[in-house]
Order: sequence, then C-alpha cells, then structure tokens
Amino acid sequence: MRVLITGSGGQVGLDLIPFLQGRGAEVVASDIVPRPEACAPDVPWEHFDVTNVTEVRGVLERVKPDVVYHLAAILSARGEEIPHVAYAVNQTGTYNMLEACRLLGVPKFIYTSTIAAFGPGLPDPVPNEVSMRPTTMYGITKVAGELLGEYYRAKWGLDFRGVRFPGLINAGVPGGGTSDYALHMYTTGMKRGAYESFCHDDTRIPLMYMPDAVRALVDLADAPRERLRRSVYNIAAMSPTAGEIAESVRGAIPGVQLTFESDPLRQAILDSWPKALDDSAAREEWDWRHEYDLTAMTADMIPKVRAMLDRGLL
Ligand code: SER
Repeated sequence: MRVLITGSGGQVGLDLIPFLQGRGAEVVASDIVPRPEACAPDVPWEHFDVTNVTEVRGVLERVKPDVVYHLAAILSARGEEIPHVAYAVNQTGTYNMLEACRLLGVPKFIYTSTIAAFGPGLPDPVPNEVSMRPTTMYGITKVAGELLGEYYRAKWGLDFRGVRFPGLINAGVPGGGTSDYALHMYTTGMKRGAYESFCHDDTRIPLMYMPDAVRALVDLADAPRERLRRSVYNIAAMSPTAGEIAESVRGAIPGVQLTFESDPLRQAILDSWPKALDDSAAREEWDWRHEYDLTAMTADMIPKVRAMLDRGLL
C-alpha cells in the first residue's frame, strides 16, 4: 500500500512515518519544510504547499497514493497569531487535498481533527456527536474539515475517516500548539533543568502519548468500512492536570524546577476545550484502546527524551 503523508515534518508525522513502514506501507513523506534531521534519509520527501492547487495535484499525480494521511495544519496558539495563514493552510489546504483526491481517484483520506474542534460549555466527557462551536481559527477550520470530508464521502464516495486527537506528547519538537506545555515539562525540563508552564497548575485537558496516537490513526485507516457508522471519532487516553504532570516529571527528573505562570490568551484557549472525551464509539466500532496512562508515558518517554537530546535533536 502506497501512502502519502502531508505535514510530515511535524510532531505527528515524524512518528507516523516509521510506524506505517513497520506495518508494511510504502511511505512518501511531504511538507512545505525541508526534510528534518529526525527523518530517515531513505524516505522519499515531496516538497509542496497544500494551499497551492497546482502543487497539490502535481504531488498526487506523481505519488498516486492509495491513502492520504492529511496532517498539514497550523495549530491553535500559532493560529491565533496568524489567523489568515491558519485559514489558508487548514481550510483551503484541506479542501485542495480533498478535491485533488476526488479528481485523481485517491480512494482513502485520513484526517486529523482535535479537541480544539469543541467549544466551551459542553459536558465532560464530551460525546462524539455534539454541537461544535469552537472559538479559535484552528478549531473552526478543523470542524469545517470534518464536515467537508463527510460531504466528500456522501457525495463522491471518498473513504474519509478521522480522529479527534487530544493534546499529543512525545520526545519531539511541538509546533505552536496550546497543549505544548505538557510536552515541554519533559523536553525543556530535561534540557534546561527548568520549565515554566503557561497555564495554571489545575488546568486539565485530554492528552495522549504519541505511540497511542499514531496507532489510532493507522488502526482507523485499516478498520473494515462496514463496521464504521460515522466518519470522525473522539479518542481518549488520560486527562491529568498540569500539576499532576509536573509531579510525574519531578519523579523522573530529580531536581527539575517546574513552575506555572498563566498566559491569558493561551489559558483562555485551554479553558474553552473539554476536560475529557467520550471515546466509546471508537472503542465499539474499531476496537480502539489506549495503552499509556501518565505513569506509563513518563516511564517510556524519559529515556527517549534523553536519546533525542544526546543526538542534538531537541
Ligand atoms: N495540540 C493542539 C493544539 O494545542 C490541539 O489539537 O493546538
């Protein structure tokens, strides 16, 4: 199976590439940025811009993928600094990819939505189907992408599937997300011996360790279509407070200084998101199960952060 990944240089892409290869896929990576050092040099790397229709069609014509994993996006915090770019990349970019897949007969499209697609005032855990009124440009474009994908499925038969990711944590470099404080406690905490989170210590949002996240994407892509009763699924793993994450990191990195100084803009984004997701539909329809809770994640991640620092990659 031939797979094209957009946004391959981002936090998810760099872990998704080897995971898909491990499942036997022939992976072509792509991004607007050049291949990062963390990506193996033998993975083909297409350089293109999802906002450029000609480039999008050119890549799909060259690669002829059986499935597209569409990861390219501007995340929530960065998106509030440059909303017009977030709109172009997330909204127009997703439309360009869907439309080119339709025109060129790419059969399957895997989409990454987010907790940021929900707005404030919803029940916790938030159900799979609920009124979605996000307050960030990122969230608004992600909901629109979900709806567009469902339209392409109903109207043109594109096999569109997606997950709503919690905030993702790995031994990597995050790119402008509001959930990044959780990751920085590990990476910057180890690199500098200290990190100040930009939120209150009682801030609680849904989070997930990256090995669970990439497995979820690929398991959803591989699930038998006849079992799926919807296109987009909540997936959940854990919802620790920022303070609970700090406690876990302090237990693993002796002497690390973890403090909290809330930034009003990013705190408001965090406060607008649900604290927990109801993922029972994913559990029923494609046997989704998370593996990592906070303790298991910390134990697995600390040696990986150390190895990345040793290689100069963080
Ligand atoms: N991690 C993302 C962000 O913070 C949420 O999907 O923007």
